[in-house]
Amino acid sequence: MTRDLKIRPVQPNDLKAGITLLSDAGLPTADVSVERLALVAELNGQLVGLIGLEQYGALGLLRSLVVDAGNQGYGIGQQLVDSLERLATTSGIRELWLLTIDADRYFERLGFFRQARSAAPGAIAASEEFSSLCPDDAVLMSKSVAS
Ligand SMILES: CC(C)(COP(=O)(O)OP(=O)(O)OC[C@H]1O[C@@H](n2cnc3c(N)ncnc32)[C@H](O)[C@@H]1OP(=O)(O)O)[C@@H](O)C(=O)NCCC(=O)NCCS
Repeated sequence: MTRDLKIRPVQPNDLKAGITLLSDAGLPTADVSVERLALVAELNGQLVGLIGLEQYGALGLLRSLVVDAGNQGYGIGQQLVDSLERLATTSGIRELWLLTIDADRYFERLGFFRQARSAAPGAIAASEEFSSLCPDDAVLMSKSVAS
């Protein structure tokens, strides 16, 4: 199934299809830009997933992970996260942080730990995503990616 899957850096002309994927999955799109996206998953030439990254020095905010409904359950999400971790490490990031409404158990399986909201480093707490998501709804998680 994933034989013809390609994970590659996002390009400006991916933005429209990427926003459609995010909005179809009910994820926020208001602040999405090419700069805040990192990698896309392409299956037979079609965009089927993406993942975003905001870098704050040695900290990274993983965001906007989505795989389209028809291609979920084939490991594409995990490949996107694994590839993002490698990209983050090569960019000097040592810790990834994320906020999620209902995928905390998914990220737990990928090695992320739940954190108290008060544990968020300043740059993460100041990010648009952090301030826009309701504290009662979103779970904060982190993972060390330092090699
Ligand atoms: C979360 C998501 C990216 C996973 O993508 P995927 O390619 O289907 O994931 P994988 O194939 O790597 O993993 C599939 C496994 O994760 C599990 N899983 C998927 N979403 C999950 C969730 N929200 N919570 C817990 N487990 C989840 C599946 O049940 C499956 O389990 P199995 O291996 O035991 O059968 C995808 O389900 C999605 O786009 N969801 C909607 C958007 C979203 O919630 N994004 C995260 C916000 S930051």
